[in-house]
Amino acid sequence: MIIDFIIVGSGIAGLRAAIALAAAGRVLVLTKADPGESNTGYAQGGIAAALGPGDSPALHAADTVRAGDGLCDEPAVHVLVTEGARYVRELVDWGTRFDRDANGELAFGREAAHSVRRVLHAGDATGREIGRVLWERASALGSVDTINHALVIDLIVEDGAVRGVTYVDRAGDRHEVRARAVLLATGGAGQLFRETTNPSVATGDGIALAYRAGARLADLEFVQFHPTALNKPGAPRFLISEALRGEGARLVNERGEAFMTRVHPGGDLAPRDVVARREAREMASTGAPVYLTLAHLDAAFVTTRFPTIAEMCRRVGLDLARDRIPVGPAAHYIMGGVDTDDWGRTSMPGLFAAGEAACTGVHGANRLASNSLLEGLVFGARAAAAMQEALAAAALKGDRVGAGGLGLGAGNAASKRDAQPPVPSPKSPEEVRDLMWRSVGLFRTREGLEHAVAALDAAGDSMLVTPARLVARAALRREESRGAHYREDFPQRDDGRWKKHFVDTR
Ligand code: SIN
Repeated sequence: MIIDFIIVGSGIAGLRAAIALAAAGRVLVLTKADPGESNTGYAQGGIAAALGPGDSPALHAADTVRAGDGLCDEPAVHVLVTEGARYVRELVDWGTRFDRDANGELAFGREAAHSVRRVLHAGDATGREIGRVLWERASALGSVDTINHALVIDLIVEDGAVRGVTYVDRAGDRHEVRARAVLLATGGAGQLFRETTNPSVATGDGIALAYRAGARLADLEFVQFHPTALNKPGAPRFLISEALRGEGARLVNERGEAFMTRVHPGGDLAPRDVVARREAREMASTGAPVYLTLAHLDAAFVTTRFPTIAEMCRRVGLDLARDRIPVGPAAHYIMGGVDTDDWGRTSMPGLFAAGEAACTGVHGANRLASNSLLEGLVFGARAAAAMQEALAAAALKGDRVGAGGLGLGAGNAASKRDAQPPVPSPKSPEEVRDLMWRSVGLFRTREGLEHAVAALDAAGDSMLVTPARLVARAALRREESRGAHYREDFPQRDDGRWKKHFVDTR
């Protein structure tokens, strides 16, 4: 089979790229599981786009930059919010069934840190609906082939350029496929943590593959923890969308107090990192769970607007409209990833990245809700445009610095460790996830991070350990708190020393 373009991953970024590339050559989409198994397929809340009344790309950009806590790449944000509206309209034209109001106009939901209603949604299964449309469109194109259950284990690198991939099929057989360009659209890394909203496929594969091949990675310390995953013993940690709070759901403690109103002017719709940390503290100080309550809202509205979440709750014995729903924080989204320019070009010729696997810099230190599907859509299409051009590598953006120059991270941890007894390494994926949750989670300290780095260093290399170690090292290096990265030993943002991005390479 002669292939022009390989796309690793079948979420929104990968499929949008496949559609754009189909006219330019043969495209092979490799998916790790079934096509619907991606963070896109699980996205509930929606897709943000400046299309509603009182909105504008400038306002959307301002909200995005504020959420990003001083680290957004503003030219990339400009691309996201200006091109975003066009690409979302295209989704509507292609048949995406977003919810509409009584007049048949697109209905916009509210989520945290947005100053206006801006979030287009399809019930509470927006990603599934967008995935359906993109999948149908891509599959109908004769030049797009797909192989499911194909686990990419390496990139083929020759003379410093990426020329293809090696994958293992369902039967365990290895295959090499060569192409003019490879796009990493492998999605997120929530499965590096014990508690996550992400599906089992979200193990940071793009980070591991790019790192092993020698590509640059950026901003890996920034991991967003969503405050409202179901927190019922024995039940899966599925996401309870922020869109519920956008429609009036309240977060309460055991005594029924709406505790967020005491701590932040945004109340229940304060930024996610603020809500997640407050929740954890509330649980620790009361020794009891925190809950989401919708009992004051119209029950018919709740079950009609959020049918998927209502059904998931019903399966675990909870009535979404009437019961208090126990919730807690869980790893949700990684802002860092494979370092790219605004066209998805990585530091290696022939290698491109888009969506959650990439770091365009649009999210800075904390992503604005519902900007992730938008990023996948816009930068998936842009990466496809760049893939059709000559093999070229991205230039390093101005505010990104090579980590080696700092002399921090693993080097320091290793020298301090010399006098210490060896740290036991995690022996299984569960132990890696547990370690990451305890030591590289919501609250980070030098001691905990050094312990995690040492344990992960001792664990060798694997598709799970490599990205986990990179995240832990990056978190150890950044001695400040910013956005989703919270250091208990450095609780303030420190622009003087840390208002910059760090890139890591092997
Ligand atoms: C949610 O529905 O709460 C998640 C949306 C997002 O992460 O953007």
